[in-house]
Amino acid sequence: MERKLVILGAQWGDEGKGKIVDLLSENYDMVIRYQGGSNAGHTVIYRDRKVILHLLPTGILHPHVTGVITQGMVVDLEVLDQELNLLKDLGIDYEGRVFISDRAHLVMPYHKVLDRLFERRGGIGTTLRGIGPAYMFKFGRKGIRMSDLEDKNRLRDLLEENFAFVRDLSEKVFGERLEVSVEDTLEKVLRIYERCRDMVTDVSRMIWETDRSMIFEGAQGTMLDVDMGTYPFVTSSNSSALGLANGTGLSPKFFSDAYFLGVAKAYTTRVGGGPFPTELKGSEGDRLRDLGGEYGSTTGRPRRCGWIDLVVLRHAVRVNQIDGLIITKLDVLDSFEEIKVCVAYEYEGERIDYFPASLSVLERCKPVYITLKGWLKNTKGIRDVADLPPRAREYIGIIEEVTGVPVVMLSTGPRREEYAWLKGIQIPGVSYS
Ligand code: IMP
Repeated sequence: MERKLVILGAQWGDEGKGKIVDLLSENYDMVIRYQGGSNAGHTVIYRDRKVILHLLPTGILHPHVTGVITQGMVVDLEVLDQELNLLKDLGIDYEGRVFISDRAHLVMPYHKVLDRLFERRGGIGTTLRGIGPAYMFKFGRKGIRMSDLEDKNRLRDLLEENFAFVRDLSEKVFGERLEVSVEDTLEKVLRIYERCRDMVTDVSRMIWETDRSMIFEGAQGTMLDVDMGTYPFVTSSNSSALGLANGTGLSPKFFSDAYFLGVAKAYTTRVGGGPFPTELKGSEGDRLRDLGGEYGSTTGRPRRCGWIDLVVLRHAVRVNQIDGLIITKLDVLDSFEEIKVCVAYEYEGERIDYFPASLSVLERCKPVYITLKGWLKNTKGIRDVADLPPRAREYIGIIEEVTGVPVVMLSTGPRREEYAWLKGIQIPGVSYS
């Protein structure tokens, strides 16, 4: 029985993890986010309404689920406030179901100012949510943590120190007046803290001590991981499975009995700058974007689109030791007469099948494609794998063969009920005949 489930992105984010986490949380007690912050945008259709959660774990929409924000995340209290309001609007009672690590760092208004200023100087296309600067302060040992909010004097001292630094940077280096102030920030932060004070606890111990079932919900994707992704065009956390231990404050041993699910789209997208070997720049890319509705759920930016890249997926399978893949949005390919699959790269006349670290090497890598005939049949909403057209099965078969892991599920539309299991995994409370 898979009592611990890890669900993470196998590409550059936006793989459709939100829907999968929402669907599977039905059978789990806790959903735990372990890295990133409100740069994520996990979309769920809840009672016919499109709900996008940036900070709270997606499972929170189920009344039995406990949602946990761990120390590996950076918490923007204003977004937390908005999302608690959203739950209230939806009639969802969250009392006693949301927990936040006392070690989690805060995203402050001045981190968002810095994000914008850094982007102005040869940026990488961030979400402008202050994520990079918040992690910079954390690792530069200037961060402010949830536990600091209990002591107002200490908090004011920390804020004053941060403001002095940010003001100098903003005004002397970037020539821009800093419009946010210590007192306003202090007042705002403490007001929201009143609302969430009871949620703050040592969640690392809480997870360690419980025998409840849990999902670890990854945000972004493996290729945006600060170490294993396309650095520097990445996010500032370990968004692959590498972030699990430091993100939760638990030993890697804790995850040795977990089942690792990688989520990937049937094609590839990315937002922001950076290498993307299978990108389609012309009308085929536009067609994928239109059919897939590929616009960022956090920023609304059009996503770059391209064919599926199995070098990327193989990299993700290895880095995360993925046990099974979930393929989403297969139906977006339904009308394509020909579909290409990248199975390797060609670099200076040689075929390589691993993902290189060097951007200079990556720039010169050309995808090696195999071309398949499209299935030209509707796969949207199918629930039974028997209804899958043979050519779509062949497509799935190639993904399995090249990555070396089974595709266990297809997501066949945005709604909870639009999915098909290809191979059952042992979900708590589900009986398999
Ligand atoms: P940041 O995480 O806002 O610092 O942005 C760094 C890079 O990660 C940019 O290319 C963003 O577009 C990308 N990114 C961050 N979060 C997400 C996400 O949830 N989905 C897809 N891309 C993301």
